[in-house]
Amino acid sequence: MELLKGNFPIEKFKTIETPFYYYDESLLRQTLEIIKSESTKYGYKVHYAVKANANADILRIIASYGLGADCVSGNEVQAAIEAGFPASDIVFAGVGKTDKEINLALSHGIFCFNAESLPELEVINELAEKKGVTANIALRINPNVDAHTHHYITTGLNENKFGFNLEDVEDVMDVVIKAKNLNLIGVHFHIGSQITDLSSYEDLCVKINDLQDQLENKGIILPNVNIGGGLGINYEHPNHFPIADFETYFRLFNKNLHLREGQTLHCEPGRSVVAQCGSLVTRVTYVKIGTTKKFAIVDAGMTDLIRPALYEAYHRIENITSDEPGDTYDVVGPICESSDVFQKDVRLNKVRRGDLLVLRSAGAYGEIMASRYNLRELPKAIIL
Ligand code: LLP
Repeated sequence: MELLKGNFPIEKFKTIETPFYYYDESLLRQTLEIIKSESTKYGYKVHYAVKANANADILRIIASYGLGADCVSGNEVQAAIEAGFPASDIVFAGVGKTDKEINLALSHGIFCFNAESLPELEVINELAEKKGVTANIALRINPNVDAHTHHYITTGLNENKFGFNLEDVEDVMDVVIKAKNLNLIGVHFHIGSQITDLSSYEDLCVKINDLQDQLENKGIILPNVNIGGGLGINYEHPNHFPIADFETYFRLFNKNLHLREGQTLHCEPGRSVVAQCGSLVTRVTYVKIGTTKKFAIVDAGMTDLIRPALYEAYHRIENITSDEPGDTYDVVGPICESSDVFQKDVRLNKVRRGDLLVLRSAGAYGEIMASRYNLRELPKAIIL
């Protein structure tokens, strides 16, 4: 039986030096169309999380659909602006924004800083004063909601380094309101990434509703509520679920979140925008027969896609140049680390030297997390 394969331009692939990232432009555009139509139903503002994939062509395509950008470094702010995201649609988060990065964001006049600590607020206020400008601030609040995801990518629990704790929010707001060069315009939350149990978002809505009630009693209604990113994708079945369920996602917030008159909901999806359109394409260098195992040794390694080594993440692997009956392999890279394994005991159509394998759902946190360890080349990328 032939194992199910995605639809790839195989002849074209054969002419390109491996390993490389392949982005399916049409799938990216279909995903963006759906995000647009589902979010505009409710007037929600979507800021693409640039950290997921900052490939310049990908950024340009996303910007052309009118999304804003969510950035976590000065370089991301710069890249977003160069790709065509309006500064007035850029939010800037991160626990360790440097003076240089804050100054850059202030000069561009970005929409808002998602601020995470009192010392950061002090510095933004000072630097804004020096420039004679006012900085828009949303407070990142840690809602202590369990996102039921991998512990490395859970961010909304009290033990995490991100944001202000709920109990401190009112005091912090007083500080911001008093600061001459800060303008408090919203609250920001992010509970984690690769969230597939959407009840975590219902829990988030309960926390936000409670906070809003509490603030309203003090006469505070802020114009913006940002619910962060995190919507998960289906890594097991990229062919059957190529686009995340944005309809259910946005409907959930519309149903559960009690927005006040004039408030805008913002969100920051990264993975769900770009993961499924990307694959890492790699060539089999050797098939090695061990005592108990067969190894498909490929020319991509953890330097090209670190997610399996770092998070034990699963990426579906397919042999797109073979239709011969399958066998079982450990698919491994060439890096001198025993964690350089993409997957163990994977069923693939029979593998021979020179075959092309694809690692699916690699459009998010793939190319952008590549490194030059072992002095390897950074992977190239093509969009077709
Ligand atoms: N907003 C904030 C404040 C974030 O920290 C993140 C991701 C996002 C939005 C976008 O989340 P997404 O929609 O992509 O889940 N490298 C890890 C993922 C780290 C996510 C960090 N924050 C991975 O490969 O799974």
